[in-house]
Amino acid sequence: MQAGQTGTTQKAAAPRRKSLHVITWGCQMNVYDSARMADVLAPLGYAPAAGPEDADMVILNTCHIRDKAAEKVFSELGRLRLLKQEREAAGGRMVLAVAGCVAQAEGAEILARAPFVDIVLGPQTYHRLPELVARASRAAGAVIDTDFPAESKFDLLPEQTEPQEVVGFLTIQEGCDRFCSFCVVPYTRGAESSRPAAAIIAEARRMAALGTREVVLLGQNVNAWHGEGPDGATWNLARLLHALADLPGVLRLRYTTSHPRDMDDDLIAAHRDIPALMPFLHLPVQSGSDRILAAMNRRHDADTYRRLIDRLRAARPDLALSTDFIVGHPGETEADFEATLRLAEDIGFALAYSFKYSPRPGTPAASLPVQVPEEDKDRRLQTLQALLRRQQNDFNAACAGRTLPVLFTGLGRHPGQIAGRSPYLQPVHLTGPASLIGTEVPVKIEAAHPNSLSATLPWEYAAA
Ligand code: 5AD
Ligand code: SF4
Repeated sequence: MQAGQTGTTQKAAAPRRKSLHVITWGCQMNVYDSARMADVLAPLGYAPAAGPEDADMVILNTCHIRDKAAEKVFSELGRLRLLKQEREAAGGRMVLAVAGCVAQAEGAEILARAPFVDIVLGPQTYHRLPELVARASRAAGAVIDTDFPAESKFDLLPEQTEPQEVVGFLTIQEGCDRFCSFCVVPYTRGAESSRPAAAIIAEARRMAALGTREVVLLGQNVNAWHGEGPDGATWNLARLLHALADLPGVLRLRYTTSHPRDMDDDLIAAHRDIPALMPFLHLPVQSGSDRILAAMNRRHDADTYRRLIDRLRAARPDLALSTDFIVGHPGETEADFEATLRLAEDIGFALAYSFKYSPRPGTPAASLPVQVPEEDKDRRLQTLQALLRRQQNDFNAACAGRTLPVLFTGLGRHPGQIAGRSPYLQPVHLTGPASLIGTEVPVKIEAAHPNSLSATLPWEYAAA
């Protein structure tokens, strides 16, 4: 899933002596990590700050997956440096930490270019934050921790106790062993590792007890998840989804992001058998050209992907599909790109993300000799995005007039409105009472807008 930069002030519990501001870039796994970092620091007295200006500690939780990530971090650090200097001039202190995948990949460069940074920590070590904060306050220079430690951060995190969002993220798996040619994840997040089922079920149960109604299971390669079940057997993702669907309060389940090679028969059947599993699947294909898929080391071809989608649609006829594409991978010709357009035409995506290939240092594709010129990448991206936008608009327009269950997640943008999500992940808004937030209601979709649907409530809910 893609996300821009979000400046979030994370929740933290008493004692409220110091304040924390976390700036998050990248995927939902980073959003989850940011929340967990705030949980880890809460017992040290870190509470939410209104913004970086008021914070005693600022964490930049960074993403390295595409384009200029490190440059964005350095420019944000430039701004924070001024705040830190002002604070110090006034006799105060601001702890500055860089976390996440840029920290993992470019720790040494951060310390060299931004020596005012106090802490650099990789995605696997945020459970050590209290110790790093203590060491930073003693040390003259910065402290750095970008190990892949033997202990799991998940075992060492405090449990959530505060009210949870209606849609809650739960990281079940991290890292990846697939080594796609273009991707930095196997290097920044390390080898594939799955959390045990019992820990995941306990966390989901807690989230549901604290208000979460839709649980989104996260992992870089989430359908590679396999873990020890409470019965001692090895479970796959399908088995885990069955167990989570049985938890009280869990109305909806989703999982993201998956690899086509890890969609096994049980998981396809789960889409047929588990009503709580939403009929929407994000399944990146990256390209429609067999030549490029091979160069990408994706280990599937375009027709295997098409057949997989046929099987999923046979299991769950109303399944809507989302995907990721990269245009301009090294060696991509016009004919390869046309194969990508054909694949998109054949499948018909409800939603899709598409990117220009950007070389990531240290990945195999970055050193391939035939890089595609920037102007070809630009043109291909525009052509593909026009097609994908049309498909998304068609999908949304086809929802007008239908009745869809919507899970309300919060207030809408305008007074008197509430907003939520359809099963197909579309934002839906309507005029209705706030008392419906946290509930799922069948609503009549009236119209499709560029990025959302508007709807009306059935009369029996209007005065709820
Ligand atoms: N260049 C462009 N896009 C990339 N992605 C991953 N690495 C790169 C890269 N080097 C895209 C893929 C992936 C999504 C999360 O980001 O499409 O599925
Ligand atoms: Fe990266 Fe996904 Fe490929 Fe793993 S499967 S290497 S996370 S693109």
